[in-house]
This record gives sequence, C-alpha cells and structure tokens, in this order.
Amino acid sequence: MQTSRPSRELSPAAPWWRGAVVYQVYPRSFADANGDGVGDLAGLRARLDHLARLGVGALWLSPIYRSPMADAGYDISDYCDVDPVFGSLADIDGLLAEAHARGLRVLLDFVPNHTSDQHPWFIESRASRDNPKRDWYIWRDEPNDWRAALNAGSAWTWDEHTQQYYLHLFLPQQPDLNWRNPEVVEAMHSVLRFWLDRGVDGFRIDVAHCTGKDPSFANHPRCLAGEPLADFNDQPYSHEVLRGLRRLVDSYPGERVLVGEVNIRSTASVVQYYGAGDELHMSFNFPPLDAPWDPVVLRTCIREVEEQLMPAQAWPTWVLSNHDNERHRTRYGGSLPRARAAAVMLLTLRGTPFLYQGEELGLEDAVITPETRVDPGGRDGCRAPLPWEPEFPHGWRGKPTWLPFPPGAAGLCAAAQWADDQSTLHLYRRLLALRRGSDALRWGDWAELDSSPTVLAYRRTHGADECVVLVNFADHEQAVAVPGRWHVALASDGVGEAAGYTGRVAAEQALVLEPVKE
Ligand code: GLC
Repeated sequence: MQTSRPSRELSPAAPWWRGAVVYQVYPRSFADANGDGVGDLAGLRARLDHLARLGVGALWLSPIYRSPMADAGYDISDYCDVDPVFGSLADIDGLLAEAHARGLRVLLDFVPNHTSDQHPWFIESRASRDNPKRDWYIWRDEPNDWRAALNAGSAWTWDEHTQQYYLHLFLPQQPDLNWRNPEVVEAMHSVLRFWLDRGVDGFRIDVAHCTGKDPSFANHPRCLAGEPLADFNDQPYSHEVLRGLRRLVDSYPGERVLVGEVNIRSTASVVQYYGAGDELHMSFNFPPLDAPWDPVVLRTCIREVEEQLMPAQAWPTWVLSNHDNERHRTRYGGSLPRARAAAVMLLTLRGTPFLYQGEELGLEDAVITPETRVDPGGRDGCRAPLPWEPEFPHGWRGKPTWLPFPPGAAGLCAAAQWADDQSTLHLYRRLLALRRGSDALRWGDWAELDSSPTVLAYRRTHGADECVVLVNFADHEQAVAVPGRWHVALASDGVGEAAGYTGRVAAEQALVLEPVKE
C-alpha cells in the first residue's frame, strides 16, 4: 500500500517538517464530489492542484474515519476505515498517491483520548461489568466534579445497565479510553501501524495532553469554577503515552511526524510535551490563536515561544485559525488588511506554520442561526464550506451544503482570486514561495528589532541570508528606521514591492525587506 514518498527535500540538515508549511483540510467543508452537500476525499483529490499551486508542503486532514458524527468525526467508531460520507479506503490510497506525486505529504488526525460510544470496544465495555473490555474505558461508582468540554456538563455519564459512571472529557458520545490498560495501548498502536503501513506521513494527535488522568480522581477547583478538564489536564502519564507513540513512529522510515494538539493555553506547559526529544516532534501552542490584533499581546506570545521553546530545542508551530476557533479575520474585526498583514507575520516567524483551509482566501466565519447550527460546541462559523466558484453554490452541487457559505463568497472564491494577482490567495502563494527560497525564513534565527509600541519588527538570519519583517498595527502610516539599505521583497497590500524601502510602513501594512545587494 505504501506509495512513493515525496522527494522535495528542503535541506539535507533538517527534517522536512521544519521547512514545510502545513495546510489543515477540514474534509467536510473542503470540496464535494458526490453532491451530498458534505465534502469528501474525491472532492479533495480533485482540488489538489489548488494546494500544490499555493505551495504548501503537507496536508493535515481532520478525521475521515467511520463515525456517527456526534462531534463531526472526532467520535470514531472504526479507526481503520473511512466513513462513507468521505469515501472509502481506496479513496484515501488514491489521495495519498496523488498528493505524494505532487510533493505533498499527508498527515491524518489521530484521536487517542476517546472513541465513539458506538465503537465495538465501548459496546463490549458497557455490556457487563465482567466483560474483558470493561477496563478499556474508565468506570467509577461515584462521579467527581470533572467537567466535560463542548457544553456537555459533567464529565461522567451514568450507565443504567451496569450501574456505573463512565468518563468522557468531551460529549457523552465520546467515552475516554483507559490508556493504563496495556491492551488499549497495543490496540491503538495497531491503528497507527495500519495507517503508517498505508503510507501516511504522520499524525496530528487530538488533545495529546488528555490521555493521562489523575489516578486519584481528585476534584479540581477549576472544574468547580466551570472549566472543562480538557482545558488544563496535564498529567505525567500522558507523557508516557506519547513516548510510546513516538517510539513506534520513529521505527518507520521517512521522517514520519507527530504534531500534538496540546490545548493548554500556556507555552510553558506546551514545551513539556516535546519531552527530551522523545515525545512530540511539534506541538501546537495556542496563545496566538486567542490573541486579538494587538502588537503587545502578539509580541508577548512570540517572545514566550522564543524564550521557552528554543532553549529546549523544541521546534515551534504557529497557528492563527483552525476548525475549533473563530477565524483570525473575524477575530480582527473582519478587517482584510489586518488578516493579510497577519499572514505575513504567520509565515515569517521561526517555526512551522499551520494554515487552516480558507484563510488563504481571507474568509470570515459564516453567520450561523439557530436553524443552521450543527455543532454542540458552537464552532460552526469557521467550518463553513469553501467557495470555489463565483456563482452560487460556489462549485458545490446537488444537496444544500451542510453549513451556509461565509460572507462575500462570490468575491472571495478561489476562482476569482486565482484570476486576480493582487488577491489574498496570491499573497499567500507569494509568501510561501518567498519562504521556500529563503533559508533565513525557514530556519533562521529570530531577533526582535527596536520598535514603537504599535510596530512589530524582527530580523531573521541564517548565515549570510537575512531579512527583516515590519508589521504596522496602527491605522496610520509610521516611520520605522532600519539601518542599512533594503528593498521591499513583499508587501501585505502589494504596495511598494520590488522598490527600495522608504523608511515608512503604511497603515496595517506588513513588509518583508531584503538587503540591497551591492
Ligand atoms: C480537539 C478537536 C476538536 C474536538 C475535540 C474532541 O480539540 O480539535 O474538534 O471536538 O478535540 O475530540
């Protein structure tokens, strides 16, 4: 099943994922081939050229496994099959082959913390107290005060049949696996082998900080205050689980990678999940995902990463949007100039950037009414279908799409933006190309330059390769002195490119400067 691996290596010295930009595909909303109003693998396959032309190095697919879809596929009833809504195993094999042929790597979403309540393992576990799989999940006579995420209330649900409570850090339809049971570890390792043998290039690990639970089941004041445990669970046993996954993945050739979702909003906690180079290759670090368009907040986020991850030799990731949070353009008040300036920042920081589908189009969240609401966690707005064509239904056909389109879909659709070289899509393409051609941007050092409180200014250097990035957060032009002679390699609004740097940055503009070669 193994398809040939992409050969487009960026540097012999560094693993591919350090130099790549990863694109998150949310398959339900990317592209639909069969006209049922929900995106699928054949739809994605037919649009791979959009991604290759954009210039990303890898795709991460949110879950495509069999699922009752209580949590849009994060509730899995068979880890080794594709849900019919997305296609079949043959479709994923075809996708891997076609992606690899274009030099694109493919990461799948691995959801270790919980299964669906419809998974055969849980059906057995709840069949009787003495079922051999009883201990594969977490059963207790008494609940504690732990709270579930996704507005689901208590993290414990009473099972009438066997007269005990089971644990679920998310919906009641997502019972938590007991990773202290070696049979669970072995079964989940088999899942990874199944996909690694098929040729996937790695995994994004869902709530990687959640598999280990406090063995004393002690109450927690933050849960009493209403916070879900998944927001801060941080137990030593999760690290043991990750070390096991890492050993397995490292036993495969081809630099397979593990990037974990450590959904604790603390960079100091996130760095722990790289272990001693024996846990995650990369971890998400979400403070920038919550940050407003504010240079003070963003500067603090960047400094924390540089100060805490770099000494630990932990390679950072950068994320501004994903399928669980408001899109950054929406977060920044709907401003496209801000979203474009943010793209310059995202793609010029030290670390691996993760793009969320549609941010290359400058999309905002869709407006969700009570009638169109699907997600119990209230995250539908950012999950709206991508518009491909100007005319409604924007390259989708057949049944109505499962969620409404985002605002301005006709003008923001991919076809319109490919036809306009000043579009946000072309800005992303040009940023990715600039990055691919620059050692300084891919792995160079990062140093902050003196700047005013409303300008973020930094220098990236790798040997003789050097560039400077200036982001003006103010709503007026500002003078920013940079010693030396520079030309504008890229501007977020396209203004002033390929000319000498004038010493001024326009309102909400970001610039990438390169030294003038004498
Ligand atoms: C992660 C996913 C989210 C899901 C949750 C439970 O946070 O990103 O979409 O609801 O885990 O699996």
